[in-house]
Amino acid sequence: MYLAPMAGVTDVIFRQICKELGADVMVTEFVSAEGIMQADARTRKYTEFTDEQRPVGVQLFGGDGERMGEAARKIIDWKRPDFIDINFGCPVNKVVAKNGGSSLLKDCPVLSSVASGVVRAVGGQVPVTAKMRIGWDETSVNAVEVAGILEDCGMSAIAVHGRTRSQGYGGAADWEVIDAVARAVSIPVIGNGDLTCGADVLRRKHQTAVSGVMIGRAAMQNPWVFREAKHFLETGTESPGIGLEERWELVVRHCRLAVGSVRYGDENQTLTAMRSRLMAYCKGFPGAKELRQKLCHVASVGEVEDLAAISIRRAELADL
Ligand SMILES: Cc1cc2nc3c(=O)[nH]c(=O)nc-3n(C[C@H](O)[C@H](O)[C@H](O)COP(=O)(O)O)c2cc1C
Repeated sequence: MYLAPMAGVTDVIFRQICKELGADVMVTEFVSAEGIMQADARTRKYTEFTDEQRPVGVQLFGGDGERMGEAARKIIDWKRPDFIDINFGCPVNKVVAKNGGSSLLKDCPVLSSVASGVVRAVGGQVPVTAKMRIGWDETSVNAVEVAGILEDCGMSAIAVHGRTRSQGYGGAADWEVIDAVARAVSIPVIGNGDLTCGADVLRRKHQTAVSGVMIGRAAMQNPWVFREAKHFLETGTESPGIGLEERWELVVRHCRLAVGSVRYGDENQTLTAMRSRLMAYCKGFPGAKELRQKLCHVASVGEVEDLAAISIRRAELADL
């Protein structure tokens, strides 16, 4: 079970949390090949991981096979990741405008040159994988064709997010197309899109030919999803729900770990950067609306701890 790469979310700390909670394979947030080539310290930080998180892939985006290849080699020299992953799925304009991410789904010759450029440069030191969407828009769903090209270029596995670029994150992921890709190629295909619990994972594993699954947004709200899904796959039953106190413990721990790392700067900046993450964790908590309003303003771990104590106390009183 993979934790999906999510820029601004799956940093080294969140990956550690998901690993502890049962995610098997992780991919870093995407980094631009150009940023790596310029040895940009910030870009380099995005590729951070710890040995406990292995197997870890570092994800690169870019539209030039040679530069991508050089960047991949640099990363291997720095960090020895377990694999290099190429992003053919990012829908963001900034990335697409630079011929990166999902724009390559519209240009198979360039896509192929990027994939083979990386494979050639890496020279078998580590496997190269790809992550893609199913096409540019609904009139050009070409995932089966693209996956065939990627296989021929030497990709070792492909993760497929079952949406087109124009869908963004709207509509539902199309698992029929994911299944068609998994049947069309002989390398492992990892299915991705809208998985939120063990029952979803089991259903997709039964109904499709995927070799593995990848979970993204559901983990932002509920990083226990990996442990819960594994329990469900093993026993066919739901695991007992995670209580409010345990959820808050994780929220506070995440804040402390983030403040302890130097990624975002001082405590105030760190908590400011984490506010949207905190709101994701607290979706579905009792009094979520009021909590969200407060979380918009937190600037220290102490404030989060205070909110946690109040929230737990209120829930206890409501149970009396
Ligand atoms: C905030 C956010 C950031 C993302 N960043 C990346 C990224 O850096 N690389 C990538 O391949 N996909 C990225 N994705 C897409 C996810 O990896 C995944 O394909 C998508 O969310 C669908 O899976 P889900 O329904 O389980 O969330 C991002 C998604 C979100 C919501």
